[in-house]
Parts: sequence; structure tokens; C-alpha cells
Amino acid sequence: MAEPVIAAEAPPPETSEVILETRALTRVYGEKVPVKALDGVDLWIRRGEVLAIVGPSGSGKSTLLNLIGALDRPTSGEVIVNGTPLSKVRNLDRFRSRTIGFIFQSHNLLPTLTARENVEVPMHELPLRPGQRRARAMELLAMVGLAERQDHLPNQLSGGERQRVAIARALANSPSMLLADEPTGNLDSKNTADIVALLTRLNREQGVTLVIVTHNTEVAAAARRVITFRDGKILRDVSMSNELERELLELKRSPLGQAILRGDHLPPALAEVAPVLHDLLERV
Ligand SMILES: Nc1ncnc2c1ncn2[C@@H]1O[C@H](COP(=O)(O)OP(=O)(O)OP(=O)(O)O)[C@@H](O)[C@H]1O
Ligand SMILES: [Mg+2]
Repeated sequence: MAEPVIAAEAPPPETSEVILETRALTRVYGEKVPVKALDGVDLWIRRGEVLAIVGPSGSGKSTLLNLIGALDRPTSGEVIVNGTPLSKVRNLDRFRSRTIGFIFQSHNLLPTLTARENVEVPMHELPLRPGQRRARAMELLAMVGLAERQDHLPNQLSGGERQRVAIARALANSPSMLLADEPTGNLDSKNTADIVALLTRLNREQGVTLVIVTHNTEVAAAARRVITFRDGKILRDVSMSNELERELLELKRSPLGQAILRGDHLPPALAEVAPVLHDLLERV
């Protein structure tokens, strides 16, 4: 199939649409043997966007995520969140806990706390009474389908369940942006699909902006925009165009689109392109 499937790089969006921007963002690690992990990255992230970041190991994906999540400081350049440069933010912990939720590859749950207590941890930053924290944690656990596991310790949960608790915890303070670094890295395909469905539902229903670093093509396929990193730089930044999206939605509603999504047996001419169409239809 020809290339026009994907739109070329978009121009900078309207300021009001931008939730996060990086300007010439650079991070050099070490002094004796400096490693330029991130090399002058300019990036805009729109409010409500689902963005996947892909690229080879060591290309700077986690470095970028840590910088945009204010877990690390750049060597030079700037991260601007909702119009505020992070270099001007006095209390980064406070800022982070109210704006950004993090999900890591290994869930990082505290082993001695129950699922519910783990979800409550970030809420200690907020002026909530214990009963309110508990109620909110229960609400979040119910949302990720784990209400009945509230009293389980992490080692009494499956890998997929632990990751869902980690997602509930990341949502504890209603962040406008979720940053996920290989959130399905340790999961099988069924659990991966569940996590992807949960994250995309959060985006659809609550408008949470999602930035997902992933090696997994199924996870990347759930994003409308995919940025590829190479050697600390953006190699490609591709979004699905609106027109293409409309056409795909039309196809998705048609009997043929439904047959492709179900994986039905199709005539040879169609069978060849069905896998590509299947992935595209899942993205709209
Ligand atoms: N704390 C650190 N000190 C020194 N070098 C580091 C540090 N963290 C990362 N690096 C180096 O910076 C580069 C980018 O690392 P980064 O973790 O961002 O890669 P990545 O794209 O997330 O890779 P992966 O897919 O393996 O997670 C790598 O060459 C890495 O060795
Ligand atoms: Mg990484």
C-alpha cells in the first residue's frame, strides 16, 4: 500500500491546544564520558492527545519522559507545561503530583501496602480526610475492575492486576496528563490489550492526555500520533490525518469493516491488505 496512510508532520498547534511543549530540550549524562541522551528536542503535545513514543533502546525515550514529568532537570532547553516553564516552578513535587500521573514498566507498588493503600499514597499531597481518600481509592479501583481486590497485597495480585493498581494510583490526583514508560512491558498479550483498552477509555471519557513509551506495536497502534526517536532526536512524528480518520470510521461502520475487525475469512485480494486495515481500524 502507498504511503499516504499517514499525514506528514503537523505545524505547531494553537497555543490554547498545547498542554506541553519542549524547546531545544537537551540532557547530557555524566562528565568524564558525556552521553547526550536527548539532543535539542522540540515537541508539542496537544491536550487530549494519545501519543506513542517508540525507538531503539538507548534512543532517549525514558530520558524525555522523565524530563517532561519533572522527575529530572534538563542540561539545557525548557519544558513548558500549560504555559509555565518548569524551570520557574518552585515546588516541583507539588506541581507534579497535581498535574502528572506516572506509570512505569514495573508497577513500583509498595509491597507492604494493600492495593487500596497504594492507590491512596499520592493523595497525601491533597487536603483530604482519611475517609475521603479511602472512598476515592475505592472508586479508582472499581474503575480498573479491582474493587474486590482492595485488601490484597501486591504479591497477592497478578502482573496485570498490579499494573491496573498502578494506573489507579497514577490517576489518584486527577492528573491532566498520564506518562507511561513501557506500561505493558512485563505483560502477556491479553493483559496488554486490557491495559491499552483501559488507557484509551480514560482518554476518551476523561480527556486525559496520554504519552506512552512502548516497544509494543499493538500499544503504538492505539495512538493517533507516533513519534520515533533515534539518537536523542525525533526521527519521525506522524499523525493520522482527519480525512483519513473519517474514511476509516466510515469503513469501520460498514459490514466489510466489521468483517475485517472480526478477522473473518476474506477474498484473496482483500486478505492481503486486511491486517494493515485491521490495525488502522482499531486506531479510529
Ligand atoms: N542516569 C544515567 N547516567 C548516564 N547515562 C544514562 C543515564 N540514564 C540513561 N543514560 C544513557 O542515555 C541514553 C538514553 O537512555 P534512555 O533511558 O532515555 O533510553 P530509552 O530510549 O528509554 O531506552 P530503553 O528502550 O532501553 O528503555 C542511553 O545511552 C543511556 O545509556
Ligand atoms: Mg527506557
